Amino acid sequence: MTARTRRSVVEQSKGTGMSRIAYVNGTYRPHREASVHVEDRGYQFADGIYEVVLVCGGRLVDEEPHLDRMDRSLREMRIEPPMARAPLRLVLREVLRRNRLHDGLLYLQVTRGVARRDHPFPDAATPPALVVTAKRLALPDRETSEKGIGVITIPDIRWERCDIKTIALVPSVLGKQQAREAGAGEAWLVADDGTVTEGTSTNAWIVTGEGALVTRDTSQAILAGVTRARVLAIARMNGLEFEERPFTVEEAQSAREAFLTSATSFVKPVTRIDDRVIGNGRAGSFTLQLFDAYMDHARGAGT
Ligand code: PDD
Repeated sequence: MTARTRRSVVEQSKGTGMSRIAYVNGTYRPHREASVHVEDRGYQFADGIYEVVLVCGGRLVDEEPHLDRMDRSLREMRIEPPMARAPLRLVLREVLRRNRLHDGLLYLQVTRGVARRDHPFPDAATPPALVVTAKRLALPDRETSEKGIGVITIPDIRWERCDIKTIALVPSVLGKQQAREAGAGEAWLVADDGTVTEGTSTNAWIVTGEGALVTRDTSQAILAGVTRARVLAIARMNGLEFEERPFTVEEAQSAREAFLTSATSFVKPVTRIDDRVIGNGRAGSFTLQLFDAYMDHARGAGT
């Protein structure tokens, strides 16, 4: 180990306050030693899918919808599930336990396995590869959240199957970096017709002047976010008006409120879109109501 890698391992464990354990193809390994083969098809072709599950108080939030979406992504990619759901749930719990994870994230990745590099699928005997890692995450406090974040808008240059949660994320990586360099927290992706599809790793929402929640309808143009579905369920339960339809950048910029959702962002107020301030530049009341309700749900209080 070089001095540099030794330092980064120390910094890593300091940052997370634990020694991390990863699950890799049947074994639990110290995070720094966990690795996959150079001919893993995920590494060579981005031929795989993933899920990110929020962990709150040691509990997996919306575990079943995440595993359902994972099964769907696998089906669409024609990758065999690496194991049945019951043993997979046990692996997830074992990763939580070994990492003593209270609040954080579980990352699951399945690829088409290890095979000599060739574009078509490897032979049927090649098992898919499964990796599960854990990461600590501080839950958001309301006061910081109220300040909101800015988003930039950029062209959506992704492929036409954004409903599959594939690990091929280069457009999202470039978009998120562009947002960071612009001092924004996310980039909203804009289709050729001027409508917002979603964020690079989040779903996009606005609240209209009439007080209706709007988020794009699910299709192959966006990922059907688990947090999105949960927030819609919360809205339904609380009798809030909502519409699932596309909206343009202009409509978003003149909206009363805007926010985004994901397993890692929760319900996050958006207070600026490009150079336009949204509302009074602070999180709006609908957004904060949904933030509170979602956090209650995540903490296990139900909705
Ligand atoms: N991203 N849209 C995209 C393109 C995403 O990548 C994600 C999730 C979402 C929100 O989905 P969910 O509510 O199920 O997290 C929407 C994860 C968190 C990521 O890439 O890290």
